[in-house]
Amino acid sequence: MTLEPTHTGEAVAARIERRWATLSIAIVGLLVGMAAFVGIHQVTMPQGHVETADPRTLHLSGEFIESNLGSALESDGSVTVHAIGQQYSFTPQCIVVPAETPVTFRATSADVVHGLLIEGTNVNTMLVPGYVSVLQTRFKAPSEHVMPCQEFCGIGHQGMWGKIKVVDKAAFLKLTAARRRLTCVD
Ligand code: CUA
Repeated sequence: MTLEPTHTGEAVAARIERRWATLSIAIVGLLVGMAAFVGIHQVTMPQGHVETADPRTLHLSGEFIESNLGSALESDGSVTVHAIGQQYSFTPQCIVVPAETPVTFRATSADVVHGLLIEGTNVNTMLVPGYVSVLQTRFKAPSEHVMPCQEFCGIGHQGMWGKIKVVDKAAFLKLTAARRRLTCVD
């Protein structure tokens, strides 16, 4: 008795092998596809808990109106700083904060992407128009820090600098008694 070539043991083995090879390539393909989807999805979608601020109406309403910029003492004793970056300056230009106090920065951009970096600290974030950048920090002792824009934002980028003045906690509290929003120039 003779078997057709397709029914010999060798042919059957080869067919099963091809099937498994196809299956393993499909699995690898699926995993690569999943990794690519997750990666692309992460970089193209904003985070779920992100806060937004419309750059066109910053000066009209909301937490970034001019009268609300600067440092403010919160009821829990911490300090919140509101700031805006725009071509080519920060508002306020000079920020005053107390030492030994939790400080929360809330900042955004009025035009293009800027960077907020406080020299000598771990504060370093991007200010993206449309989004609120939130950072928490604590300054150990009275000191002064420069705050350069660290994201290229146009022809005046090199000239975009701010300043942070850390003052003694008691001195800061004295200042807040007179005004709600503080900057160095008050
Ligand atoms: Cu703003 Cu560079």
